Amino acid sequence: MADKKRHTTVSLKSLFSKGEKIVMVTAYDAAQSSIAEKSDVDVILVGDSLGMVVLGYDNTIPVTLEDMVHHAKAVRRGAPNTMMLVDMPFLSYHKSIENTLTNAGRLMQEAYADGVKLEGGESIANHVKALVDAGIPVCGHLGLTPQNALNLGGFRVQGKDTATAEKILRDAQAIVEAGAFMLVLECVPSTLANFLSDQLPIPIIGIGAGNGCAGQVLVFHDLLGIYDRKAPKFVKSYAELGTQAVSALSTYRNEVKEAVFPSPAYSYEVGDHDFVQLYAKIKGDTNH
Ligand code: KIV
Repeated sequence: MADKKRHTTVSLKSLFSKGEKIVMVTAYDAAQSSIAEKSDVDVILVGDSLGMVVLGYDNTIPVTLEDMVHHAKAVRRGAPNTMMLVDMPFLSYHKSIENTLTNAGRLMQEAYADGVKLEGGESIANHVKALVDAGIPVCGHLGLTPQNALNLGGFRVQGKDTATAEKILRDAQAIVEAGAFMLVLECVPSTLANFLSDQLPIPIIGIGAGNGCAGQVLVFHDLLGIYDRKAPKFVKSYAELGTQAVSALSTYRNEVKEAVFPSPAYSYEVGDHDFVQLYAKIKGDTNH
């Protein structure tokens, strides 16, 4: 989409003020991000779910800053006209403010990110503020925060009781005060997401947070049905590409085994006359 205009934090805010839903999808390489751009989504997130859906890890903890930079660069090349947010991976925004700024700076300067996403609330609010003060747009992430899944007892719904719901509210307020322009809210009851949406002045992008949020995000591989493993309840698969891909590859495999592929339509030929001359020349050359 050559004439598509890349969203900024300001244009997203205006969608939010108008009540137009914000559409976000993850992508991890140029092929995926170009599909996302052609689909006219508002925001691409290079999520650290990369670790699970692309790199084959069980969780997001092993994902490194190098992984994120490498994949974000590819995503940017495939979608030059779409706003791209990039996840800061595990332990890349906890050690010191200086380290956080250096790491986020790499995502901005090497991958041309439009902003970064960080998981957590009050405990990282000073890092969020430092990033925003340095000119780096920040999106928060609360509710189920996968980098903290070991402390949360796994990938489970958050904010189901008063104490944890209140904690999420306090965390959200801290992130807003620190200057975040948007917040991803993952795997919480819809009632809590709706309450937070009413309370906060910034757009909330839900994933497993019901239909009352300012926008939605889904993981590319989940929404296209690339894996056949059981997905969480909140995932809607809009296609079954995994099944189609296995069927296509099996047909390819059988056609090669049976010497059906490549047929003449997929082969290069020279005419009989040209071949005789070519053959004679090769023979002549090798006889000398
Ligand atoms: O890493 C990711 O893909 C995410 C989304 C699930 C919001 O953080």
